[in-house]
Amino acid sequence: MPEGRIIGLVGLGVMGRNLALNLADHGIRVAAYDLDEAALAGLADAPGIALAASPPALVRQLKPPRAVLIMVNAGAATDRALAALGPELEPGDIVVDGGNANYLDSMRHAEELAARQLRFVGLGVSGGAEGARHGPALMAGGDAGAYCELEPLLAAVAARAGGRACLGYFGATGAGHFVKMAHNAIEYAVMAAIAEAWLMLRRVVGLDHDAARREILAWNQGESRSYLLEITLDVLSRRDADTGSPLVEVILDRAEQKGTGAWAVEAALALGVPIPSLAEAVFARTLSSLKDERVMAEQRLGAPLGAMPEHVSALLRQLPQALRATTIACYAQGFALIQAGSAQHGWHIDPAEVAAVWQGGCILRAALLERIAAGYRLEPGLANLMLDPAIAGAMAAGEADWRAAVAAATLGGVPAPVMASALHHYLGYRTASGSAALIQAQRDRFGGHGFQRIDRGGIYHGPWGRSS
Ligand code: 6PG
Repeated sequence: MPEGRIIGLVGLGVMGRNLALNLADHGIRVAAYDLDEAALAGLADAPGIALAASPPALVRQLKPPRAVLIMVNAGAATDRALAALGPELEPGDIVVDGGNANYLDSMRHAEELAARQLRFVGLGVSGGAEGARHGPALMAGGDAGAYCELEPLLAAVAARAGGRACLGYFGATGAGHFVKMAHNAIEYAVMAAIAEAWLMLRRVVGLDHDAARREILAWNQGESRSYLLEITLDVLSRRDADTGSPLVEVILDRAEQKGTGAWAVEAALALGVPIPSLAEAVFARTLSSLKDERVMAEQRLGAPLGAMPEHVSALLRQLPQALRATTIACYAQGFALIQAGSAQHGWHIDPAEVAAVWQGGCILRAALLERIAAGYRLEPGLANLMLDPAIAGAMAAGEADWRAAVAAATLGGVPAPVMASALHHYLGYRTASGSAALIQAQRDRFGGHGFQRIDRGGIYHGPWGRSS
C-alpha cells in the first residue's frame, strides 16, 4: 500500500474498533463509520482515526483506488453494508470483508462487486478482541492484485510467529473464509475435547475443582501447549464475585454458536470429506442448547452415572495422552477439509502455509502447528495429516491411553463425543477392510442398488430372489 494511504473501515464493534486502533498504531490512517453513533463516539479522540457520519462521507475521505474494510456480522449485516457502500465506490476500488462470512457468500459478493469492476478480498480474522487489537492471524482470498496492494498494511497489523507475519493469501475468492471456517470448526472441536477431559477429571476421576485445574495445568507443556489450554486455565482460576464459587460452576452449560462450525459440516458433507469430531462438536453445542429438555430427560431417565475406574492414577496418566491424540485428530480433520475445499475450487491452498499462519495470533495457535507445518513441507501432497510419520508416531504413542480414556468415559457415564469419535475415525481410517461390504450387500438386498466385488470390476447383484 502506498505511503500515506488511508483505509476505510465500516463496523466498529469489538473487532472493528480494535482493528482500527491496531491500524492507527501502525501509522495507517483510518476513516471509520458505524451505524451506531455511540460506537463512533467511542473513537472520537483516537489519533489517526477520522470518523465519518455516513457511507458516502466515509468514501469521500478516501483516495482512489479506495480500500474499505468491512467488519460487521456475517450475513444480512454484511449484505446491508455492501449495499450501502457499493454505489459510492468506483471501478478499481477494493472491498475487504473481514467478518466471519460464509465462503459461499464471499463468492457471491465478489461476483456482484466484479460486475461493477470493484475488487474483493475475503479476509478471515482470528484472535478475538485481543488479537484484533494487538495482532490477529489473517487468512485472505480473492482478487490477487488487490491483496498485493493491501499486503504491507495487513502484514503490519498481523501477529508475528516464526519470524513472519501471520498472514496468508490462500487463493481466489472464498479461499480465505474457507480456511477461517475450517479454523473455527477445529476450534469448536478442540474446545469441546478439553471440556470433555475436564468433565472426566471431575466426574470419572472424582477430583475437586482445584485438583482438576492443577491436572490441566500440567498438561499445558511442551508440544501440548496451546492457547486454548491457556485460556481454559485462566477460566478455571477465576471465582465468582457473588458466591465465591469457581466461576465455571455458576455458568449455565448451554453453549451458543454463530454458524461457522455448522457451515464447515455442511461443506464437508457436500465435499464428501469425513470430519466426524468437528461435527460432533457442533452437535454437542446443539445438545447443550436443549437445556430444559436435558433437565427433563435426567429426571425421567436418570443421570448416566457409572463406575469410577479402579486405577484412578492410570486414568490421570492416560487423559493428557487422550486429549493430545484427539487434538491432533481434530487438526487432521480440519486440514482434510481445507485440502478437499481447495481441490474442489482450484484454490491451491498450501497446508504448510495454513499451519504457519496459525502459529500466532489465532485461537488455534499451539506448539503442535510447528510439527504440522513441518509435515506438510516435507510431503506437500500428503493425503492426510495422520499419515505424516511424526504425527503418526505421536498418535501411536498415545493410542493405548486414548482407547483406555474413551473406555473410562463410557464406563463412567460421562459423554465424550469428540474424543470418542476422533478415536473411532482414527481406527476406521487405518482399517483397509471394514464393515462397508455388508452395507453394500444390504443396499442391494433391499433396493437392488448393486455392489462391487473385490476380485473383478463391474456392478453385481446378489442371489436374493424375487421379493413377494
Ligand atoms: C476467532 C474466533 C472468532 C469467534 C468465533 C466464535 O478465530 O477469533 O473463532 O471468530 O470467537 O466466531 O464462534 P461461535 O460464536 O460460533 O462460538
